[in-house]
Parts: sequence; structure tokens; C-alpha cells
Amino acid sequence: MKIAPSLLAADFLHLQEEVEKVNASGDILHLDIMDGTLVPNISFGFSVLDQLAPAMKVPMDVHLMVVNPHKWFKKVADDGAYMCSFHLEAAGRRCKEFIDIIHSYGMKAGIAIDPDVPVKKLFPYIGKADFFLIMSVFAGFGGQKFIEVTLDRVAAMKAEIAARGADALIEVDGGVNFNNAKALRDVGVDIAVAGSTVFHSDDPVGAVTALREA
Ligand code: DX5
Ligand code: ZN
Repeated sequence: MKIAPSLLAADFLHLQEEVEKVNASGDILHLDIMDGTLVPNISFGFSVLDQLAPAMKVPMDVHLMVVNPHKWFKKVADDGAYMCSFHLEAAGRRCKEFIDIIHSYGMKAGIAIDPDVPVKKLFPYIGKADFFLIMSVFAGFGGQKFIEVTLDRVAAMKAEIAARGADALIEVDGGVNFNNAKALRDVGVDIAVAGSTVFHSDDPVGAVTALREA
């Protein structure tokens, strides 16, 4: 299981040092972009991403929590992101089209869902999306409690992917900590996003290793 530290929980007064911690330990840097409309919060935007991107030595995973996410795919690609996800709640019937656009820019395409969206809504995109981001908290804020039923949702998604003989990664985001990391790995999560557990630790590099080896 790869660990993707989420910049949302970083110390923004010392962003360069925080980024170096991810370069030293993380597999992927997870970047949460929010618009205050799809989700009830606003995080950071592209002016931050533009400056941060050249300093990154690990792949960037941009999680767009915005309405009209397709407006930003090119910008995300221009900043050099490796993975880009949008929410099914924002895309509606345009998921397939959005996946194609992300692919046309050379990025891995992911569809994210909040905990109240049935995983079966993702099934039509198996074989099309490269990864599925199953939120383990409601998108919008770091530091929330992990929703346990996420483990069953991941298992259901994995089973359907296997049944169709397809290939796709599963990413989980929200409330990931030392107590649930092993269960996430056991159920087959490929990428675990962790904000507070990494950046609020006295030893973020050690925290990433501990999550990976949990
Ligand atoms: C929430 C974000 C998460 C958040 C996770 O909307 O998508 O990536 O940073 O933070 P923690 O790990 O603190 O729950
Ligand atoms: Zn996220």
C-alpha cells in the first residue's frame, strides 16, 4: 500500500520544509483543491500548486473537489500532475468524457465518491478509470473520523473489478491512521491518503513509514 501525504494538513508557513518531508518519505503527494461549492470549504488553488510543482520529487495526485472539474484538467496537467481525480457528484453523466479528457492530457484518471454515494455508481467506469477514490470521510475537511464501512465499500469495489477481469487502483482518503492502516492494506487499498496523521506528527517521515508497514 502506497502512502500519499495530504498537503491540506501541512504547516503553510513552512511549505517548503513540508514538501521536503514528502519528498523524503511519501510515495505520492496528495493535493486537495476545493471550491466551497461542491464541498463546504475552500483550500488552496493553482498559485500554490504552480510554485510547489517544480520542487516535487514524488508524483502529484490532484483531488479536485470542485464543480465543473473539467475546467481545470489542463491546468493540473500543465503543473505536471501524475494523477487527477474529480467527484462523480460533480460530473454526473459526464464521467466517461472527463476520464477521456484527463487521459488526453497524459494523466491517470480517477473518480472520487463521498461516503453516501453507493459504490455501484462507479461500476460503469470500471475498465475506463485508472483509479477510484473512495472517500472515508465526507470531502471538505482534514482531521475527521474514519468511517468504518469504507472497508466494506472497498471490498465491494475490488470484487467487482476482479469479476470484470479489469484493472484499477483503489485510493482511500480521510481519517487514515495507525489503527486502521493495516485493515486498509488487508482489504486491498492501493493508495492511502493521510493528512493529519503525517503532518501533525512530530516525525512525519517516520509516520509515513509506520503507516506503510502497519
Ligand atoms: C478531505 C481531503 C483529504 C484530507 C484528509 O476532503 O480530501 O485529503 O486532507 O485529511 P486527514 O488525513 O486529516 O483526514
Ligand atoms: Zn483528498
